[in-house]
Amino acid sequence: MEFRTLFCAALACSLTLVAGQEKIAPARTAGAPEIPHLRKQGTATQLIVDGKPFLVLGGELSNSSGTSPEYMKPLWSKLVDAKVNTILAGVSWNQIEPREGKFDFTALDGIIRDARLHNLRLTLLWFGSWKNSWSSYPPDWVKKDFARFPRVQIAGGKSIEVLSTLSDANRDADAKAFAALLGHVKAVDSQQRTVIMIQVENEIGLPSEPKEYRDRSPLAEKAYAGPAPKELMDYLQQHKDTLVPELGTVWEAAGSRTSGTWEQVFGQGTATAEIFMGWNYARYVGRVVEAGKAAYPIPMFMNAYPYGFAKAGEAIRNSGTPMPDLMDVWRAGAPRVDFLALDIYGSDFASYCADYNRSGNPLFIPETRGMAPYGMEARTLYAFGRHHAIGISLMGVERPAATPDPLLTGSYRLLSQLAPLIAKHQGDGSMSAVLLDPKGGPQKIQVGNYTLEVSPQGGPRGAAPSADFAAAIFIAVGPDEYYAAATGVSVKFSLNTPGPESVGIGTVEEGWFDNGRWVASRQLAGDETGQGQNLSLRSHPADRNPDGFAGIQHFTLYRYR
Ligand code: DGJ
Repeated sequence: MEFRTLFCAALACSLTLVAGQEKIAPARTAGAPEIPHLRKQGTATQLIVDGKPFLVLGGELSNSSGTSPEYMKPLWSKLVDAKVNTILAGVSWNQIEPREGKFDFTALDGIIRDARLHNLRLTLLWFGSWKNSWSSYPPDWVKKDFARFPRVQIAGGKSIEVLSTLSDANRDADAKAFAALLGHVKAVDSQQRTVIMIQVENEIGLPSEPKEYRDRSPLAEKAYAGPAPKELMDYLQQHKDTLVPELGTVWEAAGSRTSGTWEQVFGQGTATAEIFMGWNYARYVGRVVEAGKAAYPIPMFMNAYPYGFAKAGEAIRNSGTPMPDLMDVWRAGAPRVDFLALDIYGSDFASYCADYNRSGNPLFIPETRGMAPYGMEARTLYAFGRHHAIGISLMGVERPAATPDPLLTGSYRLLSQLAPLIAKHQGDGSMSAVLLDPKGGPQKIQVGNYTLEVSPQGGPRGAAPSADFAAAIFIAVGPDEYYAAATGVSVKFSLNTPGPESVGIGTVEEGWFDNGRWVASRQLAGDETGQGQNLSLRSHPADRNPDGFAGIQHFTLYRYR
């Protein structure tokens, strides 16, 4: 069914329903700022909300919390105390379309109303056809009618509870519901813009168990035996010099053919199955996103756990998932998806951030937690400072219902102070950050006119050395002027521009920002700056502000011979 018809049908549904339901306050009219959108600034991509860059200091609710305003009522104020500015909340297809074509947005309206009452923004997570690979969120009328809404089949023809990407009926039903959702959000929120972004589906890709690399249903087998699609081949040829190396290598290894069957073009390896599934998920989601954007074109992204193409002998995980190795396949198949986002828990934080923040894909982390050896404060400083992230979000933020995680609150309180400065310096080379292994040596980074040699200092003086990685952010606001914040580092300076070769540390202030205005407290020198030899962004526990951070430091440097 043509998605324009899809969109109109859905909009009609959503508007009539608004009339029926508890309406949330209509707000500003003409002259209201643009709807949330993305904007390039140098090498960075910024989320613009109410006309200004917006850094997402997020918290993702547990999967089902966003389905009940009553359940959330006692939790909002705690989220505000945690210094979160955006809540990531799941929207269940089953809950909004319990009967085909009959939409009910009561719960969603309650969540939007209450988030707005607490001056929080929302990123909605569309739990539609797939969540964590499986199809547990489609409505019962979809689940029960497996003839009309076919499933993925594994070898031997057994169906598993995963909607097949090859079915137009599955796709169009999801797209219709998604368009209704975005039509409704536009109708009730385009003036207030509480909802700033949409995540489409959640960690999709074939489930790792049963170990199936691709859909084996008759439709899928026919497609796999057929030619690789022209659109994908055209894309590969047009972007052959900028393809992510992992995909380029697979294509080249099979001779960089510009036509042929999937296996002729990509070879007989398991990567071909992942590319095939990636393409089919992307085509499907691409239509869903187009339907949603036709209703209300706010930024839309996919999230995935950072797997890569399975190596020989390794099991494939989430075949087809929107991971960096498949970034080009997803761009070719779903061009309206704005970016691929990273869910990262335990493993190597720095390398996965780099994996996602490449080939122009901005970094956004919808799901993470402070897990050793990377505390939440280190993750936050590094993601914003080094990768100019759009945002970061703690998974299960409402779980510690009692008191929010102090390290989360500390990170977000610091970031909300630095946000205007970060937004101003994203993408122009005047800001960077380090993530330091406590057992590792110093790291050198260039920020502005100086090279900074940053060493871990294992937390406050007198405290037990921390096994956690240290992190520090540096922002050059002038040729010899900087702001910095860290979790425990010391910094030495050298030059990376011609002129007098020695560097001196000028004035060093510790302080904070109050609504963008710098408030200096101590002026640091002597022991606190290694007698002028190095900066020390760690202070005695007694000096640490309640967030556990050494205060922000504002300092000048000078050169002499
Ligand atoms: C990653 C998923 O995206 C989340 O929805 C949740 O299932 C976590 N895993 C585990 O809590």
